[in-house]
Amino acid sequence: MIEDLLDRTFGSERQEKTVYRLREGLPAVEGLSFIAEGGQGELIASLRFWAVSISGEPAILLGPLAVEPRYQGQGMGRALVAWGLKAAKQQGHRLCLVVGEPAYYAPYGFIPACPNGLILPGPVDPERFQVLELVAGAIEGIRGVIERAPEIEPSASSDVA
Ligand SMILES: CC(C)(COP(=O)(O)OP(=O)(O)OC[C@H]1O[C@@H](n2cnc3c(N)ncnc32)[C@H](O)[C@@H]1OP(=O)(O)O)[C@@H](O)C(=O)NCCC(=O)NCCS
Repeated sequence: MIEDLLDRTFGSERQEKTVYRLREGLPAVEGLSFIAEGGQGELIASLRFWAVSISGEPAILLGPLAVEPRYQGQGMGRALVAWGLKAAKQQGHRLCLVVGEPAYYAPYGFIPACPNGLILPGPVDPERFQVLELVAGAIEGIRGVIERAPEIEPSASSDVA
């Protein structure tokens, strides 16, 4: 199960992170949930995206990205991110945010979000908060606080990462 994989890779304190407040109770973006399975059907890796809003403009939030520890370092994470970003572009999403290691996400074109006037509502290492234009120029004129996507109401029974 995805939640167990996330506990193993991030630790159980993961839900205290600021990004969880943005995702809490919401489903992942439809069509942007990816898993990798082993030969026996075991869950090896997972990547999901979540809808957010920046001053009323829609964006997506990448993560959590997790690879089962014994399968790490074999290209699984990079493959999932590349696949996920390609799918997000195809679906017409324009801006993607992530909180993660800059060295890991820079190759996809992610750049620091704070200098671009984007604000995460809660404690975050500013260097880890990054943004990617899925459409050239999409960031122009977009500034402000990242908020939960307004059009989706929280559901008490959702399976949240
Ligand atoms: C981070 C994670 C998703 C990477 O997935 P992976 O399948 O192990 O990574 P890949 O094999 O696709 O990529 C390996 C490359 O990423 C780099 N890398 C791996 N973890 C990294 C990290 N935390 N920070 C920076 N670079 C990292 C490796 O050095 C390697 O670089 P190279 O290609 O130049 O040699 C995985 O290690 C994981 O689940 N870690 C625990 C959960 C976590 O920290 N997730 C954070 C996502 S921001």
